[in-house]
Amino acid sequence: MSQSDKKRRLIIVSNRLPLSLKKVDGAYESSISSGGLVTALSGVRNSTNVRWFGWPGTNIEDPDERKIAAAALADKDAVGIFLDEKLAHSHYNDFSNGIAWPTLHYQSGIPFNEDAWKSYQRVNSIFAETIAAEAQPGDLIWVHDYHLLLLPLYLRARLKEKGMTHCAIGFTLHTPFPAEDFWRALPVQRELLQGVLGCDLVGFHTDEYRRNFVECCSRGLDVRVSGGGDEGIQRVEYEGHTVGVGMFIVGIEPQKFTDGLRDAREVQRRVEELEERYAKKVLILGVDRLDSTKGLVQKLQGYDYFLQHHPEMKTRVVLIQVAIPSREDVKEYQDLEREICTLVGKINGEHSTPDGTPIIYIHHSIPFTDLTALYRISDICLITSRRDGMNLVAAEYVACQKDRYGVLVLSDLAGAASFMGTGSITFNPSSAQQLSDSIYKAATMSGEERKRGYESLEEFVTTNTSAKWGEKFIKILSEYA
Ligand code: UDP
Ligand code: G6P
Repeated sequence: MSQSDKKRRLIIVSNRLPLSLKKVDGAYESSISSGGLVTALSGVRNSTNVRWFGWPGTNIEDPDERKIAAAALADKDAVGIFLDEKLAHSHYNDFSNGIAWPTLHYQSGIPFNEDAWKSYQRVNSIFAETIAAEAQPGDLIWVHDYHLLLLPLYLRARLKEKGMTHCAIGFTLHTPFPAEDFWRALPVQRELLQGVLGCDLVGFHTDEYRRNFVECCSRGLDVRVSGGGDEGIQRVEYEGHTVGVGMFIVGIEPQKFTDGLRDAREVQRRVEELEERYAKKVLILGVDRLDSTKGLVQKLQGYDYFLQHHPEMKTRVVLIQVAIPSREDVKEYQDLEREICTLVGKINGEHSTPDGTPIIYIHHSIPFTDLTALYRISDICLITSRRDGMNLVAAEYVACQKDRYGVLVLSDLAGAASFMGTGSITFNPSSAQQLSDSIYKAATMSGEERKRGYESLEEFVTTNTSAKWGEKFIKILSEYA
């Protein structure tokens, strides 16, 4: 990054801030938010002059309380956008996670809800007003994810009213973008495309998502598409405004994990303890937000099939599944949680012996120390996403397996499979048999095969870091300022 880019102010905007506030004994405490968006952006935050705008993860109505919370956030370069509780609920739960998220992940049969759509528009408009009021000429503004698809258009209009035409607006989607015949079933699809096309540069995680988006624009709106020139950025012209559209490979900060494993006594102690505890087992690890897109039901069914068809493995394998609570106010997520609990109970009931249970189910966030230790000691990492923008857990596992050569068993339908398919065992998670065969293959692979696969994955993860992703996006975005 050049000196001038370092000095340039970057405004990051996402629905969820990297830290969530919680009131404890009258004061606001912050904790790191869960999910891949925060992980991806952690590399960017470290290297630029950044302020991050977003919803603080809790509803605070009282104006004095909001001041206290805002001060707690300001300490961490974050700016809270406080919303009325009902409006926040309708925007986040009903539209963003009830309609946009499932549509982007190819889930069909989603009922549309006009009130939720109005709330979505209103919240995007509040974000636009707040950011336009704070932005200064020359700022780069980088908007993230499906909660804010209308924001680029609204923000451009607000900035224009203020005479600020020199703020470049970028947008990155962290989910898949579906094929045109699926997307067009959404009644407000054109408005959402128009919203995104209000920015200067749009980024997707895979080339498939980028192509789908351009195809949707071509069919749904009167656009002109050209290029694919420098850095593979296509140009989409709509109503006199030209937008760059590209693929930007997102990653993690592998060093955060390798440093932890090498230098942190606490991490090493956890590795030793857990290694001893599971010394005689083949350890399979799953780390997912509790979300239907992660294919947790399919994972459990496939694992059950594996135990049924390989009884000799029953006492040798353990699946440790971390299911991070997510979006717990949405009914589909509550139903899924119950379904998973029932399945875990059923499988453990059927296959447990006095020597142990086949599944250890953890339904809460775990500290970084435990997460790193689990990544380190596991023989297999099992990712069963039915759809997934990228999946950074895959990269985190690889970062922790140096010289150990653990096997990544990766769903074909995760964005990560576009880049990490070579070196992993890939499969379709809807097939219990494919899933079971993949676990068996991973558990019985030769050391030489594991090493070969691992080395290509390691190269991908160390080359495509989150810092590099951010630098590339910001460099291209700054050309629009
Ligand atoms: N993670 C977390 N809390 C935990 C365990 C893991 O926040 O208790 C992190 C994990 O390290 C990873 C992220 O959650 O960085 C999940 O990102 P991914 O891209 O795999 O999926 P997403 O949640 O974004 O759909
Ligand atoms: C995914 C989404 C993010 C979201 C995260 C956690 O990574 O792409 O935008 O922040 O999940 O979900 P939550 O609903 O808790 O913000």
